[in-house]
Amino acid sequence: MKKIGILTSGGDCSGMNAAIRAAVRTAIRLNIEVVGFRKGYLGLMKGDAIPLDTKAVSGILHRGGTFLQSARSQEFKTPEGQQKAMDNLKELGVEGLVVLGGDGSLTGALALHRLGLPVVGIPSSIDNDIPYTDMALGVDTALNNIIYAVDCIKDTASSHARAFVIEVMGRNSGYLASISAIATGAEYALVPEREYDLAEICQQLRARFEEGRDNAIIILAEGAGHAQEISDSIKDAIGFETRVTVLGHYQRGGAPTVFDRLLASRFGKRAVELLISGNSGVMVGLSCNAILATPLEDVIKGEKRPQDEVLRLAEVLGV
Ligand code: F6P
Repeated sequence: MKKIGILTSGGDCSGMNAAIRAAVRTAIRLNIEVVGFRKGYLGLMKGDAIPLDTKAVSGILHRGGTFLQSARSQEFKTPEGQQKAMDNLKELGVEGLVVLGGDGSLTGALALHRLGLPVVGIPSSIDNDIPYTDMALGVDTALNNIIYAVDCIKDTASSHARAFVIEVMGRNSGYLASISAIATGAEYALVPEREYDLAEICQQLRARFEEGRDNAIIILAEGAGHAQEISDSIKDAIGFETRVTVLGHYQRGGAPTVFDRLLASRFGKRAVELLISGNSGVMVGLSCNAILATPLEDVIKGEKRPQDEVLRLAEVLGV
């Protein structure tokens, strides 16, 4: 292999830049040229590639987001879009590809692998809903962002005896909500994986208010309801005044934590090593602190991470 490509696709996350840097520097050590495709699969379909050398990736390790930029592409899901990408790769002489992204992006990587392109995926999504890795890139940074915000909100909530509904990201995944609830001592984590009973929550919050507690925090995953609606429906029953905070895209940015910088560096290096040694069609993942490779086929078919244990922990410690 003489030349490989790299791209970041789907929702960005902190640590992507550090992983690109690691992949580029590993490849260059092995005398392999690297190009970066801009805006994920969109750039691949347009042949929008920039050469990446050691200098091009200096000064980015500590920066959130992705300097290659990212996008979600409907066109790439079609056989025509994928063929366009394959044609461009051939024309540019790119023989292998490293793809950073979440489940949709990894599904795209699998499609290219099936068309004969050597591909290695790096799980990158704050949702932490990708099987075969204990942690995806960006999760730890997003959690640290969330707990910083929740701690701040708790201070003001206590000063005013208020209950806050704090909405975090996760359309289909309650991971951020449940872990941040444990880490901040929130009273509730409401997640898409499990039903909840608002009448029961109201009763418990009322009891909490009558006990003289000065605040209550409900962390809501975005896929489990609308923060304002939940706040409106509990506000007259619980004693506490209620307020809502939607953390939104704040969660996805910022300098990566040490954990994410290290994970990104390990993932990036291993992805390139796998690609050039002919072990493609796989995703790198973290398992018991080792970096393992799992076939993309298994990753895409794999079971989502069970939430029961962490939710139980949040429940036992929260009320
Ligand atoms: O998949 C990552 C994620 O941050 C989800 O948690 C969230 O629902 C979604 O992306 C938001 O997507 P967008 O940035 O396109 O609005």
